[in-house]
Amino acid sequence: MLAIRLTAEPDRLDVLVLPVRPAPGDATSAEPVPAGAMLPTGIADEAAALVGPARVTGRAGQVHAQVRPGGTPARLLLLGVGEADEAAWRAAGAGLVRATRDETHVTVALPADLAPESVRGLVEGLLLGSYRFRLGDDPDAPTLTGVDLAVAEPDAYAQAVATARTTAEMTRLARDLTNTPSSVKNPEWFAAQVTDAAADLPGLRVRVREPEQLAAEGFGGIVAVGGGSASGPRLVEMDWHPADARTHVVLVGKGITFDTGGISIKPVPAMKLMRKDMAGAAAVVAATLGAAALKLPVRITTLAPLAENMVSGSAFRPGDVIRHYGGLTSETTNSDAEGRLVLADALAYAVQELKPDLLIDLATLTGANAVALGTRIGALYSDNDRLAGDLLAAIDAAGESAWRMPLGTDYVEHLGSDVADLHSAPTQGPGSVLAALYLREFTGELRQQWLHIDMSAPSWCDRDDAELTRGATGWGVRGLLRWLATLS
Ligand code: BES
Ligand code: MN
Ligand code: ZN
Repeated sequence: MLAIRLTAEPDRLDVLVLPVRPAPGDATSAEPVPAGAMLPTGIADEAAALVGPARVTGRAGQVHAQVRPGGTPARLLLLGVGEADEAAWRAAGAGLVRATRDETHVTVALPADLAPESVRGLVEGLLLGSYRFRLGDDPDAPTLTGVDLAVAEPDAYAQAVATARTTAEMTRLARDLTNTPSSVKNPEWFAAQVTDAAADLPGLRVRVREPEQLAAEGFGGIVAVGGGSASGPRLVEMDWHPADARTHVVLVGKGITFDTGGISIKPVPAMKLMRKDMAGAAAVVAATLGAAALKLPVRITTLAPLAENMVSGSAFRPGDVIRHYGGLTSETTNSDAEGRLVLADALAYAVQELKPDLLIDLATLTGANAVALGTRIGALYSDNDRLAGDLLAAIDAAGESAWRMPLGTDYVEHLGSDVADLHSAPTQGPGSVLAALYLREFTGELRQQWLHIDMSAPSWCDRDDAELTRGATGWGVRGLLRWLATLS
């Protein structure tokens, strides 16, 4: 990860970055933002003279590089910061790391009286835009290793930089877990990653249930879905319980380490990216590690039901009836609707044994998420307006995106089954909504305290775009951490 340093006395000025913003009332021209720290004499005037001839507009993330043979700096970079709010600075940070991947070090002259949130955005943009996933050597790896942020009062920004660093580090961890091939990340491996990561964080406990314990305690959904794989299922339970906590949140994440669809096997195009089917688990686990690293004063219990949905002689079948934790039963007519089966166990366990104040789940649950909302927006469901509003606001502030969807009662009738309490995969009706309605049946007394996000679509992106990089996005980590930081 890039080393980012705040400094009042920039001592490396070979590559200097000056922020520029659109000129007021003129979208085609720009002006440099006055810097807060001492800079080489004349450099600000030089930048001001450059913007016109170089056609710099100040759009967030735009970079213009001016070479100055024999000078200090040797290269002057004009960095567009647009509206100069947190989101624009995030885009600027991402644009900057993309434009400077072949440098080794750059110094950014931050404006005077910059808001700490803007520095948070900048640092997240730098650290997320420079993410790459690669197994083994990377001959094309960027050479940029250090960014100095020059500012008159570094102490005023230390907290913002630390928060941004933890947020980005955990988002990068979620991306790593999600990008990892499924030949590596079976449930046992995933659980070991969580245990290892938590070992560095005092006060964070992790318990992993093995297949035998899951069967003995009645986690029938996890056992059924994991039954077809040579790599048995696991349930990871993390607990962050600071002494000053008043609110108890349970986070649940779908952790299907590969989804073939099972006996109801997926066709080739639908299966090729199914190593990402644990992105919900990766997000809640990473957010919990982040909350512990930031010592947030809120109790968090995190559940990651992990299973590989495979095709084999021991796989569960369409038509099987599954008994979930606590006793509700599901008729499974389609083994590809496996996510809701493992989530049902985890939700029921949370309601019956953990009794939290709030219950949140994230899952790459249905292809219908993308049909409804495209590739960038999560589908958010809750009967609790306040909770939905709070999560939407936190997700938006963090630079992620979700849209609230209806839990229309009209569709509940599709969940009826002749042979079990519930039908897990109705063939009629809106897919993402039906999955949410099915999950709601397992929330018992906590129905009003529950919120679900179908994040199938935004968990992945197919091209670099601002702070997103091709592949896993780590969606949810940033929004969850923002929201958790508002609780106590
Ligand atoms: N993991 C998939 C959903 C998915 C699809 C995630 C595309 C990311 C991208 C899930 O397990 C699934 O297969 N859902 C089915 C449900 C159906 C069988 C009721 C779907 O969406 O088709
Ligand atoms: Mn599936
Ligand atoms: Zn799935």
